Amino acid sequence: MSERFPFGLPTGWFQVGYSHELEVGQVVPLRYFASDLVMFRTSDGVAHVLDAHCPHLGAHLGHGGRIEDDKLVCPFHAWEFRGDGTCDTIPYATKKPRNCDLSHWTVAELNGLIMCWYDRNGAAPHWELPTVEEYASEDWTDYRTRRWVVKTCNQELAENQVDSAHFHYLHGSAFIPECSSKPHEHMLHSTSTTGMTTPSGVVKGLIDVHTYGFGFTTTRFTGLVETMLVSSATPIDTDHTELWFAFSVRKIGKGITGGVGKAFMMEIQRQLEQDIPVWENKVYLNRPVLCDGDGPIGVFRTWARQFYPELDQRAAK
Ligand code: FES
Ligand SMILES: [Fe+2]
Repeated sequence: MSERFPFGLPTGWFQVGYSHELEVGQVVPLRYFASDLVMFRTSDGVAHVLDAHCPHLGAHLGHGGRIEDDKLVCPFHAWEFRGDGTCDTIPYATKKPRNCDLSHWTVAELNGLIMCWYDRNGAAPHWELPTVEEYASEDWTDYRTRRWVVKTCNQELAENQVDSAHFHYLHGSAFIPECSSKPHEHMLHSTSTTGMTTPSGVVKGLIDVHTYGFGFTTTRFTGLVETMLVSSATPIDTDHTELWFAFSVRKIGKGITGGVGKAFMMEIQRQLEQDIPVWENKVYLNRPVLCDGDGPIGVFRTWARQFYPELDQRAAK
């Protein structure tokens, strides 16, 4: 539990990597969900995530571990683990001891992202992630990616999208957007108007945001050009979160698309870097004093409670 926020780690799917960054045979140490983890890809193309510390004497398998015959070999005494975490071989033992397996995490790989399911009580996934049509479409550019580590929790990051007034006062949008949010089970669909200032005046646009828990969001912008942001926010621990942004633009001619893609990314990045000092220094108020010009913050907070186990829900009230 955090000292700063009345939340523990939320349940859901969260990004732990990009597909193109994990080759067959590659072993990567990770730190998410307040846990040390190791990720690797076997020759069948499947990405695996296991607890990182070897049950033998505790070596971190992500630091010096290697893949041999599709098994993860510990650098310390060469115990071998399969992708599902079971201990396959201890090269110098005649009998395998009990409890020699590693815990494995549920992984899904789609839309160019490697996603991991987290539930504090160990429950299996109870929803699936959608396929993003634009990904791998000939009509859309490949992702441009960026990531940040922010000293705050998922709840605060996600609330940003429904906080209409800050888009004008913090980010300088031409007017306060009109935002509405519709929750449906683990999904939240938000739409918002936007006003981009260009040399020929303010161009109105629309932002269409589909959120699936705290760990997967698609944001589609229309107006000047069609652009899309696929994003995730992965808890490192209760007070630190990694933000993953992947940008794509509908192709409209080579040079133009490249320029638009870059400008779009720079704009989102500019806004995020305005948000970060606010997020890192603010407090979370259980009972904020809201006014009628604020966005659907109450709708968002009610929806968000489902991702915390019982105790945290009570504390957050
Ligand atoms: S610590 Fe891993 S094999 Fe000994
Ligand atoms: Fe913001």
